[in-house]
Amino acid sequence: MISKRVSEMLRSRVSYPLAREYDVRVVGAINLASNESPYGPSPRVLRALKREAARVGSYPDPRATELRQATGNYIGVETKCVAIGNGSDELVDLACKAFLNPGERALIPLPTFAMYELACRVNGGVPKFFKLPNFEWRMAELKRALKGTKLAFIGRPNNPTGNGMGLRDLRGLLASGKLIIVDEAYAEFAGYSVAKLATRTGNLLVLRTFSKAFGLAGLRVGYAVGNPKLIEALEGIRAPFNVNRLAQAAAFAALQDKRYMRRVVARVRQGRTYMRRELTKLGFLVLPSDSNFLMVDVSPLGLNASEICDFLAERKIFVRDLSNFRCAGPDYIRITVGTPQQNERLVKVIKQLNEVVR
Ligand SMILES: Cc1ncc(COP(=O)(O)O)c(C=O)c1O
Repeated sequence: MISKRVSEMLRSRVSYPLAREYDVRVVGAINLASNESPYGPSPRVLRALKREAARVGSYPDPRATELRQATGNYIGVETKCVAIGNGSDELVDLACKAFLNPGERALIPLPTFAMYELACRVNGGVPKFFKLPNFEWRMAELKRALKGTKLAFIGRPNNPTGNGMGLRDLRGLLASGKLIIVDEAYAEFAGYSVAKLATRTGNLLVLRTFSKAFGLAGLRVGYAVGNPKLIEALEGIRAPFNVNRLAQAAAFAALQDKRYMRRVVARVRQGRTYMRRELTKLGFLVLPSDSNFLMVDVSPLGLNASEICDFLAERKIFVRDLSNFRCAGPDYIRITVGTPQQNERLVKVIKQLNEVVR
């Protein structure tokens, strides 16, 4: 009954490495495991959701016309250069459907977001993994790794390493003529983007989301930006009502309150600086990050990732164990930047741990 492809994926246990089943509803629990915004969406979004709730008896706009226009304005590109998806997850999948023939290879630098591999495989593509040396982006090696592939997924900044490939290096990859899919889920925190460049480039597709800086993870809205030919392909194969009515209204309202988003980004950046400094003082190796999370090597404390995650979870703080991320190894965790109070609580609990193990 099940296709060969899916049977093979199930057999080899290729699936999204779900975060551990933490009960984040526990009173006082702090979830720093999912790279969500600790501030949630703008109050304007909540008002728009209330209004739109009365209309859920009718289908949503299948073209997401208003949201597409508003998103184009936000990025500074024409509407025809934007496609809206059910989270950028859906756009990763649609991109594989649209641009990868069965048996063709997709370059996936590691460690990275698991959806690239999953979408590639489920659509009949073959991942070509490339381990980032020292978690760094080195163009010459990546360019060599591009050989024999049809496209590449580049997280910029990348999850979980938090760093982004330099623009010159990215241009170097684009010169190969292969399709480069740049995932900018965390672009607002990074302050850099190639979304505009994508509209003028035949082989660059940029993916963005409302899940992170705009705080709409639960509603599932993402978008792709690219030249109209690529966008037309994505638009042509998506399901007609892929983005629901509430999600469209919420994302539209979020774009009407960019001040709120900028305040969130400024606070998260401050929190990131604080966390990195404090964790470094405690002896951890913390990778520099342009995102709303930090990748942390916990081995200097003589512990592995699972042990520290357990210790924190017992104290109701949930962070991401990266042991089940390809190529991250057993020593790394990823911590989402929270509110100042959450960050301080995390640092305090780790100080207690530090005293126990030293
Ligand atoms: C790099 C990256 N891309 C995409 C996503 C998913 O975004 P969305 O919620 O829009 O599907 C995530 C979520 O964690 C991510 O880390």
